[in-house]
Amino acid sequence: YSTMSANRGKLIVFEGCDRSGKSTQCAKLIERLRKEGHKAELLKFPDRTTSIGLMINNYLANNVDQRDEVIHLLFSANRWEGMQKMTNLLLGGTHLVVDRYAYSGIAYSAAKGMDLQWCRQPDIGLTKPDKVIYMTLNRDKASERADFGGERYEKKEFQAKVEKIFEQLQDPTYWQVVNGEGTIEDVHENVFNVVSPVVSSDCGPLKKLWT
Ligand code: TYD
Ligand code: MG
Repeated sequence: YSTMSANRGKLIVFEGCDRSGKSTQCAKLIERLRKEGHKAELLKFPDRTTSIGLMINNYLANNVDQRDEVIHLLFSANRWEGMQKMTNLLLGGTHLVVDRYAYSGIAYSAAKGMDLQWCRQPDIGLTKPDKVIYMTLNRDKASERADFGGERYEKKEFQAKVEKIFEQLQDPTYWQVVNGEGTIEDVHENVFNVVSPVVSSDCGPLKKLWT
């Protein structure tokens, strides 16, 4: 390995249904990594700040409709437009904590009945995460959490379908399931126990997803 890849930052992705606690845990993890002296940045997908992200935001807020294929490709394009920045940060030694990634892209689209293999195609070649933390939460608890129900996909029955696809996508070689039902602090400890060995190990050069 080149020195650069040996010292590179690690790509940590959080996945799970809406309101499973991903955003809270991403923020806690960033804080913890920085406190321990690491360089770490938080990213989230969809990134609603770009022009593609704005189109996605309008779709999620039910302001506009899009064909399923179109919105799927926009979500993927929104990740691709972030790739250069992500690669630069990782190679510069910054760990990235990412709130949702290609797995959400597949799970939410396939939950509508789209073909899973078709859905996977546009994300092939994205940078592969070093670890995926898959957060689970009882669906009744998730729907009781604040803000649930506002956006297009935040319906109990739909989330159940999304969960089924996430289960199909799970790859035990780099996924870790974390139960989101404890206190924020307890869940954070579980997350950190998973992430800590990853950030301190040499994961080799960056890899590409599904190649
Ligand atoms: P979410 O992370 O919930 O945004 P926020 O924290 O601002 O509420 O993402 C918004 C929705 O987009 C969520 O229901 C999952 C969905 N989604 C997709 O359908 N495809 C994707 O590729 C991604 C990243 C998210
Ligand atoms: Mg949401």
